[in-house]
Formats: sequence, structure tokens, C-alpha cells
Amino acid sequence: MELQLTRPDDWHLHLRDGQLLQSVVHHSAKHFGRAIVMPNLKPPVTTTATAVAYRESILKALPAGSAFNPLMTLYLTDNTSPEEIKLARQSGVVYGVKLYPAGATTNSQDGVTDIFGRCLPVLEEMIEHNMPLLVHGEVTDPVVDTFDREKVFIETVLGPLVERLPNLRVVMEHITTSDAVRFVESCREGFVAATVTPQHLLLNRNALFQGGLRPHNYCLPVLKRETHRQAIVSAVTSGSKRFFLGTDSAPHERQKKECSCGCAGIYSAPVALSLYAKVFEEAGALDKLEAFSSFNGPDFYGLPRNSSKIILRKNPWRVPDSYSFASGEIIPMFAGETLDWLPFNN
Ligand code: DOR
Ligand code: ZN
Repeated sequence: MELQLTRPDDWHLHLRDGQLLQSVVHHSAKHFGRAIVMPNLKPPVTTTATAVAYRESILKALPAGSAFNPLMTLYLTDNTSPEEIKLARQSGVVYGVKLYPAGATTNSQDGVTDIFGRCLPVLEEMIEHNMPLLVHGEVTDPVVDTFDREKVFIETVLGPLVERLPNLRVVMEHITTSDAVRFVESCREGFVAATVTPQHLLLNRNALFQGGLRPHNYCLPVLKRETHRQAIVSAVTSGSKRFFLGTDSAPHERQKKECSCGCAGIYSAPVALSLYAKVFEEAGALDKLEAFSSFNGPDFYGLPRNSSKIILRKNPWRVPDSYSFASGEIIPMFAGETLDWLPFNN
């Protein structure tokens, strides 16, 4: 059995830099046409000039002949100027501005501390330039239970923000709860959308503790309970245009995950398409996979859909236990397990 799909894009991807970039980018470039590249490097990509330079280093790291197109983002800080948004738009290579609440996740310490107090002029400028805000939707208050941080963010930040700036285009990244699904569905279509990862479609929080602590299933926002997973599956398989593919593939060297204070992030790039196909097949909704992976994202961003195709073939394959690179190894999601669907270039 095989499916032909318009080539998908990944609307949320961490490509890193240096050696790690060299060793991961080909996994995304093999089957995805474009990717929205996250700016949480060390130091973060806060200016158009650094985004342009980062894009050049990604292009250099691509396999020869690859047509993969990295779509760059800026990292929003309390001090980002409206002028920077103009430059970003003029550059033609920046497609979004990422909001990390300060301290929410990996390399977010330079993120925003007070969006209403510090960022309104920048957000107004983004509306002028039709530049979307890409949101890591979690509050950072240590008093708030980790599992409630997305819900509280919607109630205290994102809901009020969308009400105050109804013309701001927003992507709620990597949604993890039924609250987020309901929120996105309640907003104006075409203005608020969400990306969905393979892990939040396939795993619930039990996967963090299956027979022992499972650091390779740890990401942020953290996996939630089963009812939330089911709500997200229903949303993406419903055919709604508000949800699209964003892997949040976030490689960390093995030792940085298997230690006393392990990093958040799941490396899904090599398995993501197989995993999304598994989700849609199990939901009896393979006919909705192409819109989720290849249409809804470009339609939201106002970009053309890809013209080339890929094939997904039912062809069981074993996910490698790890991928080696110069300074270590990376453990992929579903390492060592067998997956049914294998992507091919057409
Ligand atoms: O799990 C995550 N890893 N969540 C994020 O928000 C950041 C990412 C990373 O950069 O490692
Ligand atoms: Zn991410």
C-alpha cells in the first residue's frame, strides 16, 4: 500500500548550529520541502543580520543538490525594536518571530519577561507587516504546576493578547492540551493556528515513567494525560485547517539527556513522517494527512504549497538505536522500534 502526498513542510524545527547542525539537517531535508527554523541558539538569533547568517550556515550544511528551504525566525526579547521587524520583512528570509517566555525552555533565558509591558509596539509592527508571532505557550511561574502551565498561559497571556490584538497572526506551537485545542478553535480562522508534534499525538505522560525514567521522552511542554492526547488527535484528524505539522524535533547529545538534569527535547526528524502517518492511520483518517502535513501550513503562512511529491509506503522498518556524530550520539524518538510507513522521494 502506498500514499502519494504533496511534499510536506515542518513548521517548527530546531536545527542547532555547528557540528550538531551538520549531523541533523539532512534528516529534515530528505523529505520536507521547508522548515520554520527556531532561533534559540546560544546566543539566540535576535536580529535579521544573525538570521541571515544562520540561514547561510544551514544552506552550507545541506547535502549537495538539496532544495530544502529554511524559513528563518527571530527570537523576541524585551528589547526587540519595531525597526527590527521592518528589517526582517525586507530581508525576505524571516517568516516569524518567536516568543519564549523567559525561562520556559532550552535557551529561553533571554526571552520575554513582560509581553504587555515591553512588546506591544513590536507586535503592532508585526501586524503591519503580516509577520506571525510563534508562541511557546507556557507560563514560567515556578508556583504553577508543570502540567498546568499551558492552560494558565492561555488564560493569563494568550487569550488576553489575542483579544487586545485581534489582527495579530499567531501560531500556538506544539500544543499539548484539550484547552489549547479549544482555544485555537475558538479564535478567528486564519489568524490563530497551532502546530502539533508527533510526541503529543502518540504519547501521554505515562511514557515518561515506563519501567523507569525515560529522558528521551522528555520535552517541553511536557507530555500530558491521555485525555489531552486524544483531544489533539481528534483536532488534527478532523480536517480543520487550523492545525498543521510542526515536529519540534530538538536534538540533544545523548549525555545531555541522560544525566542528573537532562535537557528537554525529542529528536523526531528521522521518524516524524512515519509517526504522523501512524497517527492518521490509527484514527482512520489517512485521507486527512496531506492537508495537515502539506496544505494547512503554507496556506496559513501565505506561501505556495510545494509542487513536488513524496510517497509513503507501507514498508516496516526499524528505527536506528542512535545516530552518531563527531562529538557523540543522538537517540531518536521510537529508537529501536519498528514503524510501518516509510517515506520515499518521488
Ligand atoms: O522540548 C523542547 N526542546 N522544547 C522546547 O521548547 C525547546 C526545545 C529545544 O530547543 O531543545
Ligand atoms: Zn521547539
